[in-house]
Amino acid sequence: MDNIKELTIEEKLKLLVGAKWFETYTANGKLTEIRMADGPHGVRKMKDDQTYEKSTAMPSLSLIANSWDRELAKLSAETIADECVELGVDVILAPGINIKRTPLCGRNFEYFSEDPYLTGELGKAFIKGVQDRGIGACVKHFVCNNCETDRRFLSSEVDKRTFNEIYLEPFRKVMEEKPWMVMSSYNPVNGVDMFRNKKMLKDVLRDKLKFDGAIVSDWYSVRNPADGVKATLDLTMPYREVYFPLLKSAYDDGYLTEEEIDVRVIKLLELIEKKKKADKIKKVKLTKEERHQNAVKIAEGGMVLLKNEDNILPIKSGNVLVLENYIKKNYPTGGGGSSTIDCDGEEFSFAEYIRKNSNANVEEYADSHMTCDGGFSHNLYRSVEKSYGKDAVLIQVMAKEESEGADRRTLKIPEVVENYIKALSNVNNNIVVMIFSGSAIDVSAFEHLVKGIIMVNFAGEGVKEALANIITGKTNPSGKLAETYPLSLEETPTKDDFGNVFTIPYKEGLFVGYRYYDSFDKEVRYPFGYGLSYTNFEYSDIKIDKQSDTDYEVSYTVKNVGEVDGREVSELYIRPLFSKVTRPEKELKAFSKDFIKAGEEKRVKVKLDFNSFAIYSTAFDKKIMEDGVYEVLVGASSRDIKLKGEIIKKTPDKYSIIKEDNITGLQD
Ligand code: BGC
Repeated sequence: MDNIKELTIEEKLKLLVGAKWFETYTANGKLTEIRMADGPHGVRKMKDDQTYEKSTAMPSLSLIANSWDRELAKLSAETIADECVELGVDVILAPGINIKRTPLCGRNFEYFSEDPYLTGELGKAFIKGVQDRGIGACVKHFVCNNCETDRRFLSSEVDKRTFNEIYLEPFRKVMEEKPWMVMSSYNPVNGVDMFRNKKMLKDVLRDKLKFDGAIVSDWYSVRNPADGVKATLDLTMPYREVYFPLLKSAYDDGYLTEEEIDVRVIKLLELIEKKKKADKIKKVKLTKEERHQNAVKIAEGGMVLLKNEDNILPIKSGNVLVLENYIKKNYPTGGGGSSTIDCDGEEFSFAEYIRKNSNANVEEYADSHMTCDGGFSHNLYRSVEKSYGKDAVLIQVMAKEESEGADRRTLKIPEVVENYIKALSNVNNNIVVMIFSGSAIDVSAFEHLVKGIIMVNFAGEGVKEALANIITGKTNPSGKLAETYPLSLEETPTKDDFGNVFTIPYKEGLFVGYRYYDSFDKEVRYPFGYGLSYTNFEYSDIKIDKQSDTDYEVSYTVKNVGEVDGREVSELYIRPLFSKVTRPEKELKAFSKDFIKAGEEKRVKVKLDFNSFAIYSTAFDKKIMEDGVYEVLVGASSRDIKLKGEIIKKTPDKYSIIKEDNITGLQD
């Protein structure tokens, strides 16, 4: 039926609160059920007993971000959606598009980047991939959910301009794909809980960003659903016994009117309509093996080669030792918490995959008691002994903790593992370290002692196969960092967080990630956008074509000057040469990832528009584009600029910037 006229007031109120852990109320069959499941790293479909169905573990969003590849983001989403169809899930609770404000955030592996443009672009591709297959996307966590410590209580204190330019921007961008749902976050923003933050949910999300889908609370974040309804929250999740009586008494007391309730009910009925329409086109298209192969392909695209001294990689032959002391055979497929996927293990060991792809003589050694907590390895001497004379020694390392619900306390790996690498480096110069982590790691203790470093990230169930393909050169690495690796935690702009127990002041303002390091000329370990390849690329011939007052096409040539085929991520930054307001030194505004055969070149074309130049003016409460000179920088990382162009923006009326009715390019 799904018709509002046929629902009693009790039924309407029950629809506004979850019926089970992940499902909506059906009013005894009058309404179609909406079944949700967690993402974004696969489908986490709950069984009745709170265990989960097995499914394909896809690479984390942090790895996808390092791929800088819209196609791979879409492919991951399509693969997940395909499994949603098979498992009977209607809405996937993904993607998470919060900004990586600090590398300590325990949930960074579920987010894309420190940059809003990159986050928004990949978020859009992910939503498209999900929704084209008839599954709803639920974008989360709205908004400023940038750490996990006391996440239900600590208020994110952020100024208006920073809010609009950094934290809201990815949400603004993804609205182009019309996500079915948005999830409000746990954390209060500027002192008000998000589930009842009318300013954010109604004025910003619905009115300003024109979101017309359903807003769902984060799980257990709602204290009184009546306050949620007042703020335009449509669905309180999950089921809790207290919720319906709270809503009922708010209605009986006249705090909530039936008209107010109906507006929320209609949003959920519209969601049901979307699901019913989508049901008609839903089809399982992939086999289990095809999903697995997609997971491998995406994983390969997002692993980042950070160091490759003396071309230690790729490994084609020689004597290789794989030390699995630290991580043992169970390579992590993802981080902890609601995105954890229970998948089938891989058929082969990592060493076997290397053997299959190369002529190397590969030995594995995994017989120690080293633990993530820094437990003691009584077999260190055996590892050292086995390392003698090897052409390559491969070691896995992991951050100490990475899970939803807690933040990391350090960027370092456990000291015992650092010491282990140091001990091995005493007897062998050919060490390659593989890092399993969803965010930046402080590599200072061992970076100078090893020849190779690969940022594996959390790569899903295809991790061993994908990593072996990269290590043996079957696949040329093409990932680049979607976040800066600082020299140490002390060097980060957010090191003084948690001054007051109730708030997190976003004191660094706009200067998040590379916007900070590059503006203040701070040395970093690896810059934003950095990553090596087994080939080299040369950039030339930048050309800028004006297409309208605000739109430009920038084209340039990228040539693969090495011996092997490869993919290059080229990055375009805009640098305003002067401005009436404080601005970061440069900001990413376009990028392209292109496959180029050895010896060949490609003409790359990217677009710039109003948003590439705009700032958020707090005076006008709108985005504006200032007149001025903008440098167009094209490079291989934020610190490796290869080409420069210039755009001069000048309107005939020199006073336009201060005349509200005549602001250049003024646009919401
Ligand atoms: C997480 C959400 C998740 C929800 C449902 C919450 O704790 O913050 O991201 O979708 O649980 O599992």
